[in-house]
Amino acid sequence: MKNIYITTAIPYVNGNPHLGHAMDYLLADVWRRYMMMQGNTVRLQAGTDEHGSKIYKKAIDSGMPVKDFVDQNAQKFQDFIHSLGVEYTDFVRTTDEDHERRCQLIWQKLGDHIYKGKYEGWYCEGCEGFVTDKEYAENDGVCPDHRKPYTKLSEENYYLRISDFKDRIREAIESDEMKITPTFRKKEFLNLLKDMPDVSISRPKESVAWGVPVPGDEDQVMYVWIDALSNYVTILGYPENDISDFWPADTQIVGKDILRFHAGIWPAMLMGLDLPLPKNLLAHGHITVGGEKMSKSIGNVIAPEDIIEKHGVIPFRYYFSRHASTTEDADFTWEKYEAAYNELANDLGNLVQRLATLAKKNEVKGSKGELKENAEFDDRMAKYEFNFAFEVIWKQIQDLNKRIDEEKPWALAKTEPEKAKAVLADIIQELLNINVRLGIFLPETSEKIAEIFGAEAIEPPATPLFPKN
Ligand code: MSP
Repeated sequence: MKNIYITTAIPYVNGNPHLGHAMDYLLADVWRRYMMMQGNTVRLQAGTDEHGSKIYKKAIDSGMPVKDFVDQNAQKFQDFIHSLGVEYTDFVRTTDEDHERRCQLIWQKLGDHIYKGKYEGWYCEGCEGFVTDKEYAENDGVCPDHRKPYTKLSEENYYLRISDFKDRIREAIESDEMKITPTFRKKEFLNLLKDMPDVSISRPKESVAWGVPVPGDEDQVMYVWIDALSNYVTILGYPENDISDFWPADTQIVGKDILRFHAGIWPAMLMGLDLPLPKNLLAHGHITVGGEKMSKSIGNVIAPEDIIEKHGVIPFRYYFSRHASTTEDADFTWEKYEAAYNELANDLGNLVQRLATLAKKNEVKGSKGELKENAEFDDRMAKYEFNFAFEVIWKQIQDLNKRIDEEKPWALAKTEPEKAKAVLADIIQELLNINVRLGIFLPETSEKIAEIFGAEAIEPPATPLFPKN
């Protein structure tokens, strides 16, 4: 039994939670439940990134006081996470007093790795990221993620000497001391690392008023990414408390667009603080809609709550954990969603319904699921291929359906009732065993199945688990 710490990226609170955010939480929850199933003690962090110029401007535009604006939006994210059936143990808001104070202590601890300089270059407000001349040229001056021209900055600020750590970061990544999944993203990042300059870690207060003050310099606030990345350890109490029970993190989950901050700046900060690096960085792909990047200008944004409203949260979790790749981009369309819902109804809903009906008729008693060996499943999970792991389970469910069709317990009941009973008991036991792992992906459904087939007298549910409308 181990202590396992899992983290999710903390979203900017400049808008509503969207499908991309859901992916972070869902993957974290799948890993959390899998780790718990093995008897580990798990802490799952979530939170909100509430500083920076983007949020500040949005708040001003909304006409609300900035603090009220971020309070309102932080609440939306907490509600959203709950609506996904995801349970976190820790929630950090970067405007929390504890977080801000600890950030300042972190800054001070970084000591000589910080120096003052002048930044002349490009910035993307959407990414809240400094952009090198090379990137600027490669992207023709326009951020590919935000489709907005980069802004020119010329300002005094503090720098973190990435050059102090670059070789060690490379070694840690190459040796998998800090393992980046998937491998193609690891390679992509190692390429980027070659040209990674020292990074600006503050902004002048006159340009960005909304941030954590730099200790000892009232004209500067911390660069939002320094403040944000610190959240993973401030929530554990660092540097005021010993965090060695849960740090280093087992798995840090991020989207592909922010891997570079987590694989570059974050390890440099950790090394500067003499803290160990996280064991794993898992970078997931992006969700597209109808093959296109979701965007307000294209008008193809689908709100997660609209999907959940349709058939509840379980089909949502089913779609995004079985039909969306863990590490590649994944697409959503309503057609594909309805097809997925039908699979749920046909493969699983029907199986439960007919098995429970047969069990009742033949007076088969309920039982309890056991966690059986499943090397193929564990192998997929260890590689963070959650969708393929789910596939292993789904195949077992489909095989159970086939087995019922072939063994025809209803026919057997007429000639050899005892044998029919034994066959049914065996199939039910198998479903209950599969159901233990199913709970990682579809928790509520798994609970219902355990309840139905765990009862002394099995009763089919009054309404099928996934009714067809
Ligand atoms: N605030 C930073 C993260 C700081 S972590 C110390 C940030 N916020 S974000 O709101 O822009 O993104 C939050 C998460 O959502 C990131 O993991 C990001 O990759 C993910 N996604 C944003 N859009 C996405 C999709 N369209 N699809 C999947 N995930 C995407 O970056």
